[in-house]
Amino acid sequence: MKKLQRGILITFEGLDGSGKTTVIQQVQAHFGQSLVTQEPGGSSLGQAVRAIVHNPESNLDYTAEYLLFAAARAQHIKEVIRPALAAKKIILCDRMGDSSLAYQGYGRGVDLEHIKKINEWVMAGIQPDLTFYIDIDHADARARIHARGELTSFEQEKYDFFERVLQGYTTIFQHAAHVKKIDGSQSPEAVAANVIRELALYLEEVWS
Ligand code: TYD
Repeated sequence: MKKLQRGILITFEGLDGSGKTTVIQQVQAHFGQSLVTQEPGGSSLGQAVRAIVHNPESNLDYTAEYLLFAAARAQHIKEVIRPALAAKKIILCDRMGDSSLAYQGYGRGVDLEHIKKINEWVMAGIQPDLTFYIDIDHADARARIHARGELTSFEQEKYDFFERVLQGYTTIFQHAAHVKKIDGSQSPEAVAANVIRELALYLEEVWS
């Protein structure tokens, strides 16, 4: 069996309703041997953070909200990401630092430079090897969220918020060589097929 020379960290970013979760499941089914994880929920601390940020009664200050995501990220890096990289796994991670830049930075207006610095600090030198940005327009994303049923507190945010998040993703991914933009308006199967094709090309170079 072919082996990876090193661990690979792949992140998936996009609006709520972009279909990331289904796509990740299909990518995992295709490649096997991969570890699926997510932020904020990928560690026990992350699950506690997820409950707090999704609870409207938390009435969070936006900086506090960011710092909770950052704390979950620090724990996730230590508990899940670093050991999986050391074990030479393919890690498929649903959201990471770029979600904070898009949602807390562009969406909420938290200072972008602080977010960049703290993200770097909590990620302790680890960066995604590859990021798939599932690009979907706001109306499509909304329709999918509504079809799913009950909405989380983020999903209940107003139209303007998601427009800013979308603008944020476009801006931060504009000149990023490790980011592959995938058209998210197609069916999740078609999106997954695109991601699988791109990932297979990338992995060609890192199999031994
Ligand atoms: P969750 O239900 O855990 O996952 P998802 O919606 O991605 O399947 O919700 C996570 C929410 O938190 C999602 O709306 C995006 C938001 N979020 C941030 O605002 N900042 C962050 O740094 C991360 C990781 C997520």
